[in-house]
Amino acid sequence: MTQSKTITKSGIDIIKIRADFPILSKKINGKPLIYFDNGATAQKPKLVIDAIDYYYKNQNANVHRGVHTLSQEITVAYENARATIQKHINALHAHEIVFTKGTTDSINLVASSFGKKFISEGDEVLVSAMEHHSNILPWQQVCEEKGAILKVIPINENGELIVSEYKRLLTNKTKIVAIAHISNTLGTINNIEELIALAHVKNIPVLVDGAQAIPHTPVNVQLLSADFYVFSGHKVFGPTGVGILYGKEKWLNELPPYQVGGGTIKTVTFEKTEYADLPLKFEAGTPHIEGGIGLAAAIDYINEIGLKNIAAYEHELLVHATQALEKIAGVKIIGKAKEKASVISFVVDGLHPFDLGTILDQLGIAVRTGHHCTQPLMNFYSIPGTIRASFAFYNTKEEIDVFIEGLQRAITMLR
Ligand code: ALA
Repeated sequence: MTQSKTITKSGIDIIKIRADFPILSKKINGKPLIYFDNGATAQKPKLVIDAIDYYYKNQNANVHRGVHTLSQEITVAYENARATIQKHINALHAHEIVFTKGTTDSINLVASSFGKKFISEGDEVLVSAMEHHSNILPWQQVCEEKGAILKVIPINENGELIVSEYKRLLTNKTKIVAIAHISNTLGTINNIEELIALAHVKNIPVLVDGAQAIPHTPVNVQLLSADFYVFSGHKVFGPTGVGILYGKEKWLNELPPYQVGGGTIKTVTFEKTEYADLPLKFEAGTPHIEGGIGLAAAIDYINEIGLKNIAAYEHELLVHATQALEKIAGVKIIGKAKEKASVISFVVDGLHPFDLGTILDQLGIAVRTGHHCTQPLMNFYSIPGTIRASFAFYNTKEEIDVFIEGLQRAITMLR
């Protein structure tokens, strides 16, 4: 029994939605798959898989390069995909949307290009204690190269940023703030609008790591006034290997190219190169064309369901799972922010997350165990890792009940 029978009170037609995702009918170890590892990667609706299949069967050609019909048609389709993403996050211009390989690639692009031009010895870069390694390492590297200092906004025990400390850390040495919208480990939803406004008072730009936010909540980059907003395709029900860097036009124009090569230029001589306008300046080489097409299909799909409905339904799942977990003796939830997305990390007294995760897998339940690429956060809580259940709108309360039962069985077995 893994499917709700009715349309949920959040307006999610769960039976229909689950039928859209072919993998959800798969069995794992003889049991119906219960996929609670959406924070790592989300499953793909048939419509995304079909868009990629259609591309290879009917549209395959290179973009921005050909006079022939196929090339022109796919160039239009690829640019339409860019426009879909622009509209989805309400960017002012389509050329503020740069296709990348993913969140990590987008952050590396900004850290490298911004660092080259704007970071010098003694400057400071501000990240938070809850960042994913992908939003620490590129900045750490640029700080090492430039003799700059990486500063960290602390969090409280609940896993919330300490805003008074953040204010104190914003100084005239701070060159950029890089911060997660939603923590991949804790589920904390940061008040990005407020954090950006505080940085802007001091004219400090902000990069937002939106990898975990974009599948769960509406994002309006103009309303947020984000200078950079980055995310991955695969976490938002699209293909792997494609991601987005949104940047305000004025910043993207200021930044030097990151990788250079075919597609990024206006003219080349052996003496000098004139680079292309946005966004092509940042898109070296043949892009992940089917990735862009598939990502746009995924965005259309979630918009049909409605992100407000999705957020409301996932909140129901979060509350249901939290209440059930809190009843199990020895379970401690890590991350109790007031504003939380549908991500729950927890530990169980005396038991290793890996052992519990392995038994859950035997029951067909996929969770992530370990440090979740947030080792500094694990150090903060003095734990080696957690078990993380991260829900998507195709998950159900019945699945959560099966997971809770499985967890109780696993705990009994291991004790
Ligand atoms: N960043 C991904 C996660 O949190 C891989 O699982």
